[in-house]
Amino acid sequence: MYQETYELITDGLVKKGYILIEDALDVKLTQNLLQFAKEIKNYKRAGISNASELHIDSTKRSDKTHWVDGDNSLTSEYLTFCDGLRHYLNQSLYLGLNYYESHFAIYENGAFYEKHLDAFKGSKNRVVTTVLYLNEEWKEEDGGELLIYDENDNKINKVVPKLGTLVVFLSDKFPHEVLPAKRKRYSIAGWFRVDKKLV
Ligand code: OGA
Ligand code: MN
Repeated sequence: MYQETYELITDGLVKKGYILIEDALDVKLTQNLLQFAKEIKNYKRAGISNASELHIDSTKRSDKTHWVDGDNSLTSEYLTFCDGLRHYLNQSLYLGLNYYESHFAIYENGAFYEKHLDAFKGSKNRVVTTVLYLNEEWKEEDGGELLIYDENDNKINKVVPKLGTLVVFLSDKFPHEVLPAKRKRYSIAGWFRVDKKLV
């Protein structure tokens, strides 16, 4: 069902290392994911991974997250899309992606995420990042854009977090940051990993 999208993503990763696709998924699925994200009661302060230690550092990020699991038909539909992409990337680029982990994230008014990489260079865990945005009628004054930089720290893109937009990029190549959001900002961030999944 998503063959063309998988092809587009693969092509983008090969040619530029990242890609942005608007209206990437089925509209109904995207809308239902937004509804689901709004109803999550137990978002938790996100941690910063520092060496092997996970701690809460509110000076670097102030989003709250909730891990995605596939125990309902809605999230499992999303995870099926991601698993299809994983297989496609493995078959076409031999990336050896073992599994996908993802969380819903909420940025409340004023929340941000400082410039960072999702994986240390050459580290063998997170290899490909995805972010799916879930915000209806996002306006310029709502802020919360994702700024993407290249390896020389030049800004290469500014992504408006609007409903259905999906960004995919190589986790260790693109520093990125989330500008302060001026209203509640919902998304699902995820990572394809090459290490072995624990339990
Ligand atoms: C992340 C991240 C970007 C975004 O969660 O690591 O960089 O636009 N998210 O939400
Ligand atoms: Mn990130």
